[in-house]
Amino acid sequence: MITAICPGSFDPVTLGHIDIIKRASKLFDRVIVAVLVNLDKKPWFTVDERIDFLRKSIKDIKNVEIAGFDGLLVEYAKQRNAAVIVRGLRAVSDFEYEFQMSLTNNKLNPNVETVFLTTSSENMYLSSSIVKQVGMLGGDISPFVPECVREEILLRIKQRSNLK
Ligand code: PNS
Repeated sequence: MITAICPGSFDPVTLGHIDIIKRASKLFDRVIVAVLVNLDKKPWFTVDERIDFLRKSIKDIKNVEIAGFDGLLVEYAKQRNAAVIVRGLRAVSDFEYEFQMSLTNNKLNPNVETVFLTTSSENMYLSSSIVKQVGMLGGDISPFVPECVREEILLRIKQRSNLK
């Protein structure tokens, strides 16, 4: 049985993330979607909110579980007996960062392999920051996020932008 981890900030989840998670769930026996800390980013949503959005968005996929962890990804992979890390690759611009992460993780724990799934062409441009920008400026985020969490995400984006 092969367990894979789909790690990320998911701040918030996008249709691009869902596409990668669904495809990973067909390749591996068990997929753990892990909401982790990216020290280079300042999250807009709490870990609990991000987990909640993810849970609602993929509740119908049986072999996928959502979790949060605030340590090293490779440490979490070890704890959960995961042999694979799955990341989505959008464009060349993602490559350097992903390559660096993959090599670092491999140095820290050579037993975990990183596997890249090429994003679907309709999600090439999509990112969580795009969702936040469009939502904050009053645009329609429905092409970018799962419908079941759209209103909640929008509400939180608006609340946050009112605080600024
Ligand atoms: O969605 P993101 O922000 O591109 O995901 C990056 C993430 C969260 C997977 C990465 O920052 C991470 O693995 N964080 C956990 C801490 C860790 O292991 N850092 C070393 C990775 S080289």
